[in-house]
Amino acid sequence: MKRDFISILDWTTGEILDNIEFAIELKQKTKEGMCPKLLEGKNYGIFFHKPSLRTRLSFEVGITQLGGSSMVLSEQDFKIGERETVSDVARVMSRYVDGILIRTFSHQMVLDLAKHASVPVINMLTDYNHPCQLMSDVLTIKEKLGRIDNLRIAYLGDSNNMTVSWLNLAGRIPLDLRIGTSPETMPDMKLVNEIKELGISTINITNSAEEAVEGAEVLYTDVWASMGEKDLIAEKTRLLRGFQINTALLKYATKDALVLHCLPAERGNEITDEVLEGPQSVVFDQAENRLHAQKAILVQLEKWRTV
Ligand code: CP
Ligand code: NVA
Repeated sequence: MKRDFISILDWTTGEILDNIEFAIELKQKTKEGMCPKLLEGKNYGIFFHKPSLRTRLSFEVGITQLGGSSMVLSEQDFKIGERETVSDVARVMSRYVDGILIRTFSHQMVLDLAKHASVPVINMLTDYNHPCQLMSDVLTIKEKLGRIDNLRIAYLGDSNNMTVSWLNLAGRIPLDLRIGTSPETMPDMKLVNEIKELGISTINITNSAEEAVEGAEVLYTDVWASMGEKDLIAEKTRLLRGFQINTALLKYATKDALVLHCLPAERGNEITDEVLEGPQSVVFDQAENRLHAQKAILVQLEKWRTV
């Protein structure tokens, strides 16, 4: 039966953890020049309604490494929902391709595509969440620290699609998740409470950066103004200035705490150059791991489709 990857919550804890192990295996094989051709003859249709470096390259290269092929459809080709309905696009594409990958503004559009497509749909980022990024972050943390469960994670800065993705992960894997943000940029408390009610993780939201980072084993941040809201950067900078990851703040974390950032970074805003380039930063490993984590997702979805 076809399944999708639109949120971390679409998959069970076991499925997420198995997929991370599979990504580790695929990474190893790829490094040895022996990436298995598990998607031989498979074709993917890809949409980008927002800019991308990592996501576009890692999906296209990953599909090629697995023996498949992909086509990026530009908005010059057609605009989903304008030239024809989302459901017609989903049904037509399902007759040609083995999966639909989309980065767009509206989360609802991705849900609608998945509802009407008979092939898997992968969410490559919406205004709401960014689950593919989180899978490669989990892979990176697992590689560096040997585990992911029960770690103290400090997420600093704007409440955005990355915050939602971390909260979603906390609904599947036990974490001590601390979100440090301003009173004006708090996460959706309905979602926070829903995740808390699952009883898997401890979640604390604080308006003190130091409190969020105290004893953290992993620090995470993201741009203060996401794609589509760059006009808010002056306002967000004013609100979030105190949540910058810098050398002084890092001292509150454990000695060897990892520093993660999904990139692109705005150096000097949410993170200093010194920390981003420092020994605790693993941001480029994170970027590399997009390739392997996503290959594992693509292969898993193809396996489910055929059972
Ligand atoms: N982290 C991430 O998704 O990067 P891109 O926007 O470059 O794809
Ligand atoms: N929150 C950022 C993530 C970029 C990968 C954005 O949506 O622009």
